Amino acid sequence: MMKTEFLGLRMENPIMAAAGPWSRDGESIRRLIKAGAGAVVTESVVSDTLLDVRPRIAYDGMGAQNIRLYSDIQIEGWEREMEIAKSGGGVVIASISAHTPSELAYLATKMEKFGADAIEISVSNPMWESLEVMASHPETVFEMTKEVVSNVKLPVIVKLSQNTTNISAVAKAAKNAGASGVSAINTIRCILSVDIETGKPSLATYGGYSGGPIRPLGLASVATIAQTVDIPICGIGGITDYRNALEYIMLGASAVQVGTAVMINGPEALTKIITGLNQWLEEKKIGNISRIKGKALRNLKSFDEIKIEPATSTAISVPCTADCGICIHACMYHAISKKDDQICVDQELCTGCGLCTCICPAKKLKLDW
Ligand SMILES: Cc1cc2nc3c(=O)[nH]c(=O)nc-3n(C[C@H](O)[C@H](O)[C@H](O)COP(=O)(O)O)c2cc1C
Ligand code: SF4
Ligand code: SF4
Repeated sequence: MMKTEFLGLRMENPIMAAAGPWSRDGESIRRLIKAGAGAVVTESVVSDTLLDVRPRIAYDGMGAQNIRLYSDIQIEGWEREMEIAKSGGGVVIASISAHTPSELAYLATKMEKFGADAIEISVSNPMWESLEVMASHPETVFEMTKEVVSNVKLPVIVKLSQNTTNISAVAKAAKNAGASGVSAINTIRCILSVDIETGKPSLATYGGYSGGPIRPLGLASVATIAQTVDIPICGIGGITDYRNALEYIMLGASAVQVGTAVMINGPEALTKIITGLNQWLEEKKIGNISRIKGKALRNLKSFDEIKIEPATSTAISVPCTADCGICIHACMYHAISKKDDQICVDQELCTGCGLCTCICPAKKLKLDW
């Protein structure tokens, strides 16, 4: 039921491991495949590897900032790593990154020769200044993609950035250049925090933000691409459990990638997501995941299309013995008060904004249309 065909690649399930240090060499990739990954994307391979800076990862319990740029294994070293990676079976996608089309095509042909099943072009690293510019530049993405597509037989995926003014234009450029699919999103330019005692930022330079907090941005990017460009999409960003994977699929993704959750919890994070997804599909008696792909897009309107609901939309008064009062403080329209054991919503003052329905820890309040 989970078997997935993505860009012609036969995968056991649609849950992939994203590019990052958890897929930095053959052994690491094998571990991820063993944990059940439908496919693994290698850490980005480049032609000018540098030594790692220290420290390069900061984490605050919710999101992570990283300034690790790419693989520290030279391209020729990947011949052996790919042999190890593929020795236990499984789908391995080579992530590559470069500054020029010819350099990128060179890396792609090498990784094809070394046994990669597909190529993912990373044009979206927020730390590599010129790539950050490229990620917003449809013409450059077109040229880079076209050069790779015309030099390899493998399916080519272009990994997009949320740090762009028009992600649809970039996705269209990738499609017009012959890409088989796009993946979105890469990390987002960030500074995780500043130590106010020392005045030091979390890491020595701007980094890429990842993990749970970026999921809403990833979801919006995937939905935007799905609504505007007819191309298979792999959803990435902040997936921590199977529900998050389903959110991406319901917004139009055919498969998803997981990064930070694997970094924090190890390859078992993938096993958990895959098991959870399988159980959910069984419970719902959904034979094939493609049945729910894009389901949420039907409920996603443009702002102009939203019907202005009648003024009668109000929150409903409810009995409540709790002493929390969160809803009373949160209502910016001063519509909520408490009398005895009853939360009372003044129908004249309530404008139906919806905040109290989300903020009540007991989910007591509802809107009535
Ligand atoms: C430490 C770290 C290193 C990463 N390295 C790469 C990389 O080499 N190439 C790439 O395309 N993306 C890289 N990424 C981005 C991830 O593949 C992914 O797009 C991003 O982290 C969002 O997904 P997540 O929230 O599940 O982590 C890296 C992310 C992290 C946290
Ligand atoms: S829906 Fe908005 S305006 Fe109405 S009671 Fe709740 S918070 Fe106040
Ligand atoms: S937020 Fe919910 S639990 Fe708290 S007082 Fe309001 S209705 Fe009661």
